[in-house]
Amino acid sequence: MAQPILVTGATGNTGHHVVSGLLAEGVPVRALVRNPERARLPEDVEVVRGDLTDPESVATAAKGTAAAFLLWMGYDSTGVKETVESLTRHARRIVYFSAVQAGEDVDSVWGRVETAVRASAREWTFLRVTGMSTNTLGWADQVRTGVVRAPYGRASRSLVHERDIAAVAVRALLDEGHTGRAYTVTGPESLPQAEQARIIGEETGLPVRWEEQPEEEARAEIAEAMGRDFADSGLAYWASLVDTPEPVSRDVEKVTGRPALTFRAWARERAGDFTRPA
Ligand SMILES: NC(=O)c1ccc[n+]([C@@H]2O[C@H](COP(=O)([O-])OP(=O)(O)OC[C@H]3O[C@@H](n4cnc5c(N)ncnc54)[C@H](OP(=O)(O)O)[C@@H]3O)[C@@H](O)[C@H]2O)c1
Repeated sequence: MAQPILVTGATGNTGHHVVSGLLAEGVPVRALVRNPERARLPEDVEVVRGDLTDPESVATAAKGTAAAFLLWMGYDSTGVKETVESLTRHARRIVYFSAVQAGEDVDSVWGRVETAVRASAREWTFLRVTGMSTNTLGWADQVRTGVVRAPYGRASRSLVHERDIAAVAVRALLDEGHTGRAYTVTGPESLPQAEQARIIGEETGLPVRWEEQPEEEARAEIAEAMGRDFADSGLAYWASLVDTPEPVSRDVEKVTGRPALTFRAWARERAGDFTRPA
């Protein structure tokens, strides 16, 4: 029996595709989850209780694994070094779900995780994602009213399908030739946010129009939900994307051998998540 691959975030948007991609390749999968009773995973998956904020539990979960798919939730990197060391003591290869911000700011949470992985992993690959298409699910309530009111409709983003992130991860976990690489993982095009909302409307059959929200109103709302720092940095980032769209990279295609999925394809697949109240 081959050594299993450990998947963190296995119950989430991307992780569950990593799990199914590995199983489809005949690779044994172990999932680290916080709540095994609640986790809905394929029968073949070995489910282990653990928490990324608890390095001991990570070491236990990583014992005997060949490689790990790692994500780090939230914006607080406290304890990341200890957790990564617990992982790399056992798993030889780490594929980390990072963000493009890591390349620009080593003090961002993604930059800090990358530093920790680089310092202790024998083999590593970083998947630096621009933005996930799933972010637009945050508009779902507004989509059902026909109006998405948000700031910077002209900010262009190269949102990526979670299945593409997972497909790149599976190749990096299983194949040779990805060690020491930081891939820029994006969708195939950079689309203004107002255009994304219009596409969601077309694919759900619920006509949607964009309404520009004044920046200060948005800042107050986002700060209330996510904190002032997140509101300030998020708004500054979206503002920058009006004149400088997010980059489009060919790395998904280079690694998987097929083009990245379009935002329209994603919206079609996830239409039900917009039309059904959560
Ligand atoms: N959104 C973006 O545009 C963007 C861009 C770049 C990078 N990212 C990265 O994307 C990741 C999120 O990916 P996603 O959307 O696929 O995930 P998701 O659907 O938000 O799910 C989060 C997963 O993380 C697990 N998790 C949360 N806290 C944990 C902890 N303390 N210990 C162990 N597991 C924990 C959750 O498991 P349970 O709740 O079941 O325990 C769940 O499986 C983040 O790491 C973020 O940095 C996002």
